[in-house]
Amino acid sequence: MSAFKYIPEPFRIKSVEPLKILTREEREAKIKEAHYNLFNLRSEDVYIDLLTDSGTAAMSSAQWAGVMQGDESYAGAKSYYKLLDACKDIFGYGYIQPVHQGRAGEKVLLPLLLEKGKFAISNMFFDTTRAHVELAGSRAIDCVVEIAKDPSKRAPFKGNMDVERMEQAILEHGADKIGLVVMTITNNAAGGQPVSMQNLREVSQVCKKYGIPMSIDAARYAENAYFIQRDEAGYQNVPIKDIVREMFSYADMFTMSSKKDAIVNMGGLVGIKDPDSPLILQLKANCIVAEGFVTYGGLSGRELETLAIGLYEGVDENYLRYRIGQAEYLAAKLDEAGIVYQAPVGGHGVFVDAAALFPQIPYYEFPAQVLCVELYKEAGIRTCDIGSYMLGNDPDTGKQLKADFEFTRLALPRRVYTQAHLDIVADSLAAIKARSANIKHGYHITWEPPILRHFQAHLEPISD
Ligand code: F0G
Repeated sequence: MSAFKYIPEPFRIKSVEPLKILTREEREAKIKEAHYNLFNLRSEDVYIDLLTDSGTAAMSSAQWAGVMQGDESYAGAKSYYKLLDACKDIFGYGYIQPVHQGRAGEKVLLPLLLEKGKFAISNMFFDTTRAHVELAGSRAIDCVVEIAKDPSKRAPFKGNMDVERMEQAILEHGADKIGLVVMTITNNAAGGQPVSMQNLREVSQVCKKYGIPMSIDAARYAENAYFIQRDEAGYQNVPIKDIVREMFSYADMFTMSSKKDAIVNMGGLVGIKDPDSPLILQLKANCIVAEGFVTYGGLSGRELETLAIGLYEGVDENYLRYRIGQAEYLAAKLDEAGIVYQAPVGGHGVFVDAAALFPQIPYYEFPAQVLCVELYKEAGIRTCDIGSYMLGNDPDTGKQLKADFEFTRLALPRRVYTQAHLDIVADSLAAIKARSANIKHGYHITWEPPILRHFQAHLEPISD
């Protein structure tokens, strides 16, 4: 590998998807028409789409071959059994339930453990997981380590749970009131930051001490395993598959959006470790009414098949080295340009600190959204705000809340963009930084729906 200055793609391209590049004037018109909300853009008007790494991956030739192998039987399909074998091999759990995506898994599992008056604790909940905790009548408590809140401070495993704070929360509310502890790996909301094996072990010990079930929100579990192998003492020579096994051994159950590390465009899983758990019967019932019969769970046979294949491709060490290498490559370019991001870079993209880039723009004028719009105008790059614009208003007072971070997330789809694309992203950010002081104001909202407003709201630039 010594001849290579960076980690190159461990694949070549067999099928291409042409892209259009609009002019700056055209992009300015498109984003205005979209009310400065990037979710309102048509994807054909985007050149490099970094809105999400979810469901946006390129499947392999083996997966496309699997599309033809998919068994579309309603019950007991061959593809279902192939998926079960893969899951049992990789996770070692007693019961596996396919569902159509991650939030569907949350919907069928979380109400079995939560109810009014209960709490769920996490290192950091992802939005939909938090929403399902609240829909079940419970309250969500985040206990991420304090260092995660300082993007410029480099430290390994910034996604960890603050175990002391977690135990305090248990004692404060009473162990019988804590329905569930959820470890989100990697920690998406904190910047795709990993969780260490030691942290998983300690959280599991506290859960056992108080008799609280522990679940893993496993969307990016393979990337997390890669970070453990790279950065945690004692794991450098342990194969990724063994690291994954150990990670999952600490929990009782998991929900997974398979649209990330399992490299499929649609799919999800729920796993229960104990094959005799009474939860399984209830889970099956919830699944049958909401997702479909237990052997397909809302997925077609071809999707079960491609998921069974993608799970193995996602834990391949060469693939993971390249995958994390892409994020590192982009982050190194931002270091050169003096652009601050959640450091060290996490697994699924770069989370740029827009508050550091635009110190003159207050949180209520949405600095991260400003950077999203500028990146689109600059080069047709689509990203998303993970800051005060996404957070929304206090449900009691209606006042704009201030987020811990003002991140613009550059999420990297898997196996989709080349290094030339990443160079354009880095150069665009540097160009925006060079003129950042001239951007005096942010945006105000002219229309917003009552919940999850960032998907649909209309914005307008504030002028002098
Ligand atoms: N958990 C985590 C940590 C996630 O990042 C997501 C989705 C989900 C659960 C829900 O899964 O979308 O399959 O229903 N994250 C996407 C993102 C949408 O862009 O980060 P889903």
